[in-house]
Amino acid sequence: MTAARACSIAVDGRFREEILAGLARPQKELPPKLFYDAAGAALFERICELDEYYLTRAELSILRTHAAEIADHVGPGAALVEYGSGAGVKVRLLLDAMSAPAAYVPVDISREQLVDVVGVLAREYRHVSIRPVCADYTLPLTIPDLPRRARRLGFFPGSTIGNFHPAEAAAFLRRVRRVLGRDGAFVIGIDRRKSPRVVRAAYDDRHGVTAAFNLNALRRLNREFEADFDLEAFAHRARWNGRVGRVEMHLQSLSSQTFRVAGEHFTMKQGETIWTESSYKYDVDRLRRLVIDGGFRIAQLWTDVKQLFWVALLQVT
Ligand code: AVI
Repeated sequence: MTAARACSIAVDGRFREEILAGLARPQKELPPKLFYDAAGAALFERICELDEYYLTRAELSILRTHAAEIADHVGPGAALVEYGSGAGVKVRLLLDAMSAPAAYVPVDISREQLVDVVGVLAREYRHVSIRPVCADYTLPLTIPDLPRRARRLGFFPGSTIGNFHPAEAAAFLRRVRRVLGRDGAFVIGIDRRKSPRVVRAAYDDRHGVTAAFNLNALRRLNREFEADFDLEAFAHRARWNGRVGRVEMHLQSLSSQTFRVAGEHFTMKQGETIWTESSYKYDVDRLRRLVIDGGFRIAQLWTDVKQLFWVALLQVT
């Protein structure tokens, strides 16, 4: 994805401000959406195929088993809105199971990926009206007009909800609720809390793909935000924080150094980190609390045979 084709986030002053504000904090931070340029999206596809990264396989197995029940729940003629459509793999399971879907609205920040996916799906699902929206779904969202009586089914797979802090996740659910309307339903994938050893391995794989994905945030800053990071001076770190139930990704400075981003200078001591992502892992009590805070109830909660992952079917309350 070139800067010009990326839903204008690279030229968006707000994104630049968010980056600079994060780097100015005592614990330096970068927003995880920075990962997903074309190189980052390709690295993420590779992560999903790693032995250690169990999430994708577990979620696919649950969706394959329960797609028909989801389709039954919403009934015929529903409109499907997918938050973060990415490569468009999982949504096929729902589109195949749904009876006469009124529309499919993929929402994604990457214009290039959106164009590719829509091209492929439009050929395969000729009977479905596909209405793509290129947007950052972490912000309030306007979706195209949909058939009035079509019930809306939201879809947010991949445990991306885990990349929000819990209060942000609840606020996100409340925004989604407004989009889906009073009889809306929402299918989300959520990673389950489990052994820290298993989680850590998933975020620090032996082939170094996750490390490359993490470092790609700096490469992107160098290219699109006039930064001068020396990538050799940082190392990928994945830490389990058991108190709050999340794995954190950091980039640790290997020496004392100064760098520049968008005309501003920053310093780091040896060992200091830039926090790039959190991935919360939910037990059932925390999940229930989140769902209630977000204005939904759990209609169904499914897991896989190894009990690694949840797929929840939520109903607007
Ligand atoms: C997109 N998101 C759900 C992934 C996750 O597992 O938190 C991103 C990721 N980060 C490292 N590996 C994968």
